[in-house]
Order: sequence, then C-alpha cells, then structure tokens
Amino acid sequence: MKLFRKKTIESILKTQEKEPTHQLNKVLGVRDLTFLGVAAIIGAGSFSSMGEACYKGGPGVIILFIFCAIACGFAALCYAEFASRIPISGSAYTYAYASFGELFAWVIGWALLMEYSIGNIYVAFAWSDYFTALLEGLNIHLPAYVTCSYMDAKKCVAEGKINEGLLAWNSAPKLAGIRLIADCPAFIINIFITILVYVGVKESRNASNIMVILKLLVVALVIVVGVFYINTDNWQPFMPNGFGGVMGGVAAVFFAFIGFDAVSTMAEECKNPQRDLPRGMLYSLIICTIAYIMLSLVLTGMVKYNLLGVGDPLAEVFKLRGVNWMLYIVAICAVVAMTSVLLVFQMGQPRIWLSMSRDGLLPERFSKIHPTYQTPSFSTIITGLVVGVPLLFTDKKFVLDFTSIATLFAFVLVCGGVLLLPRIPKNNNSGFQLPYINSKIILPIFFVTTLLLIALMQPTFFNKLFQWQGEQGFSNFSLFIFFIIYALFSILSYRYNYSLIPILGVLTCTYLLTGMSISNWLWFIAWLALGLIIYFSYSYKKSKLNV
Ligand code: ALA
Repeated sequence: MKLFRKKTIESILKTQEKEPTHQLNKVLGVRDLTFLGVAAIIGAGSFSSMGEACYKGGPGVIILFIFCAIACGFAALCYAEFASRIPISGSAYTYAYASFGELFAWVIGWALLMEYSIGNIYVAFAWSDYFTALLEGLNIHLPAYVTCSYMDAKKCVAEGKINEGLLAWNSAPKLAGIRLIADCPAFIINIFITILVYVGVKESRNASNIMVILKLLVVALVIVVGVFYINTDNWQPFMPNGFGGVMGGVAAVFFAFIGFDAVSTMAEECKNPQRDLPRGMLYSLIICTIAYIMLSLVLTGMVKYNLLGVGDPLAEVFKLRGVNWMLYIVAICAVVAMTSVLLVFQMGQPRIWLSMSRDGLLPERFSKIHPTYQTPSFSTIITGLVVGVPLLFTDKKFVLDFTSIATLFAFVLVCGGVLLLPRIPKNNNSGFQLPYINSKIILPIFFVTTLLLIALMQPTFFNKLFQWQGEQGFSNFSLFIFFIIYALFSILSYRYNYSLIPILGVLTCTYLLTGMSISNWLWFIAWLALGLIIYFSYSYKKSKLNV
C-alpha cells in the first residue's frame, strides 16, 4: 500500500551521497557523541522537574528513576541498532521510514517535533528560573512580569497561589487591556542559541564539551556535599502517596532521560557513525542514570520530600540546610547545564527536518545547507521560531507533559521497528548488533509471573482494572490496555520468536505511558491529527517515493 511505502537502507544511504550540496561537516568522534548525549540528558529534568517528581512520589521516586532508566536503556539499544544500520541524520524518523514505511515515519517526525522543540521550551523556562535566581543573588532584581510566562501567571491567579506569578499579574503594564507578561530571559536565550547553532556545529561542539564537564562536576559536587547532610529518617515513609503518587511523576522523571536519542541525529557529522553512535548513546545514558539515582537519593535524604515541590530543587535543599555557598555554584552550573541541553536539541531538530525535506515530505528549503557555515540554515531559523513563539503562550507543566508523551510514543515505535528489521538486509559495515534473545518462552513466563506477583501482593488490583469511572478511571483504563498489549506480545512472541530486547523496550515504554493523564492524551491526539492533515495535503503528494 502506498501509505506504507518504505525506503530501503541502500536508497537512504545513497540519498546522502547524491546530494553533495546537502553534506554536513564530519567532525564528531565517540567522546564528542558521549558528551553530546550527556549535554542533552542532564538539564531541566534534574535541575528542575526532579523536584516535582520527588514531591509527588516521595523517596519512592527512585523506583521510577530506575524503571525509566531501564526503559530508556532498551530504547537506546534499539536506537543503537538502527543508528549502526542507517548512519544518516534524522533519528527515529529515518529508522521508521525503513521499517514501518512513510506514514509512520511522518508520524514519528511529527512527534519528535514535540521532543526537540517543545521540550526546549520547558528547558528555556527552567533556564530562566535559575538565571533570575542568580541575578537576584547579585542584587539585580528584574520585574516579575518579565521573568514569568503569561500562562503561568494566569494559572497562579486562577489557583489562588501567592507567588511570583501573582506578583507578575498584578504589576504588569497593560496594552489595549492585555497584560504584558513574558518570560524574557527564556526568550533571549532561545535567540542566542539559535544564532550559535546557525553559525556551526564545530563551534557548538566546543561550547557544549566545556558545559558538559562543568555540569558533571556540579552534579558530583551536589552528591558529595549532599551526602553529609542526609538524614535517613527522611527516607520514611518511602512512598507517602502510594505507587500512584510515584507514577504521577512519570512525565517529570522521563523528561530527565530524554536526550540520548538526540545523538542519533548527528550521524552525518560523525567520523565513524556505525561504531561511535551506539557507543555515544549508551555511554551517555549509563553516566546519567548513575548520576540521577544518586541525586534523587541525596535530595530526598537531605530534606523531607514535601519541601521539594519547587522549580529549583537542587538549590532549595542547600538553602533549607543553610549551606549557602552551594547556592551560587548550583545556580551558575544549572544555567550552564541547561544551555547545553538547549544547544543539542536546537541542533537536532533542523537535522530531522533536513532528512524529511530530502525525502520530499517537507519543502526543499528545509534541506539547504549554508554555503559558509555548512549548517541547515533555514531549518535552524524555523526551529528558533518554533521554540520562541509558543514560549510566549504556554506554561511549564503543559510543555513538560506534552514532550514526555510524544517522546515515549516515538520510543515505542523505534523499539517496535527493530522487530521488523530482520527482514531488511544488514549493512556490511555495521559496527553494532543487538544481541538476539528469543522471547518465545521468556515473555510468556514474564507475563504469567507478573500476573501471579500482582495477585499475591495486591489481590484487589485486577478488580480496579475494570473501574473506568471517577478520578482513577483513566489510569485504570490505561493499565487495562497495557495488560492487553502485554498479553498480545506474549502470544505473538510465542508464535514468531521475536527478539526480547525490543519487546521489552515496547512494553516498558508503554507502561510509562499509562502514567499520562487523559488531557495529555487528548492534546497529543489532536497534535497527531494536525500532522496527518499536513501529511495528506502536502507530504504524501510531494514524497520522492511518489513516482
Ligand atoms: N533531559 C533533558 C533535560 O532534562 C531534556 O533537560
């Protein structure tokens, strides 16, 4: 069927060779890629949204960190398998084109826009929080209405919160009856990052490497200093709001892991992508997982979990424990850490569009390379606009949820895509191969064991699965769907001997999706619907496969 027309790996690789004007500079090695991974991963998630997750879940949030790390680990292995076979820009988008076909590729490309661009809006907001705090420390006080987003201020007023948002709302000047409130530091950093990315990957890489070293040092410092302030009583109760409370932090925790996949968008700038891309992704994920587990233990050990529901939890714990000298170090490094996240995603997005444009799914301008800077210049500017304009009209929570749901969705498709790969001949130069473990017997055993364990430990669980009304209704419904998918895969694995790792990737990421609320899903479905309208009215007809 035309909708599922696929590109062969050979043709994907040839597209790149055929178009010398679209060639990028090959400068990145394995260390650069690992650094880029860490640069993309450690940022607003650890410096900002981790606080919200700890607040909701208590010390038990560590379970969620471990679970997310496992899910991302499976996804990273699947990304690595794809990246070693198709070493060109485009990330999950390109992989889907070779496995699921064009329609899914488009859907993934569309979902990735959430991860890269909308995710950067959250990071820019968090950047602004720490930057403003830093200025305050230097006795520079900006008016609240230039450091808070309009929607966040409006929300604070609606929810009756007495904080900076309310101050911004009440003090803002008005133009034609509209309050002039905008997060200006977030807006300005976006312009700065766009210029840096426009000028070139080499310059961006150098800036990014320095920032990564700095942020790893500060995370290590927070852990080392924080250990001395741990009071183990704070780890009790472990899950004050039950497992539901822990799962309430899914979007926040998962956001902290997003980024290892951004490495795969750099394929065309790698010296040896087949060997280095998988390594870069896995090394960076391992480094960050270790850091997060220690960080969440330290935070929840230093103060009671219910004091962590703030935008700058890493600074807050030291403030509460009276370790003031750490405040400035943390704030400066948070600003640096988040700058590097912004940089990597702002570099990743244009490269996905570049691939989509080469395939005819987006206008040709998106794949033009700047003659001097050798960067996808038009796409870079559009990315700057896609981050900068909505930044004026959204709030933090909305973009956080939206980014996490879209990224999880993309991960599910990437892992699923690997299951289809054996039908595609493997590229000879491939440097990484996903170990094949037959799931035939193992997965059904996992499934039955899961059911038995739940029946033993939480006998009422299965009754709840069918209660779809009320506050918990949607979450029960999501879990019900998850178990159906789990059962289906167990049967299919028995029948088709699927490879275990990608299946576990699909299942763990699908499980994380059960933590999303109904409004997250509705927004996401609306977003996908808009994407499909664009696909059918433009991309389907213009596709280079449409011959
Ligand atoms: N993982 C990235 C961050 O936390 C997106 O900022």
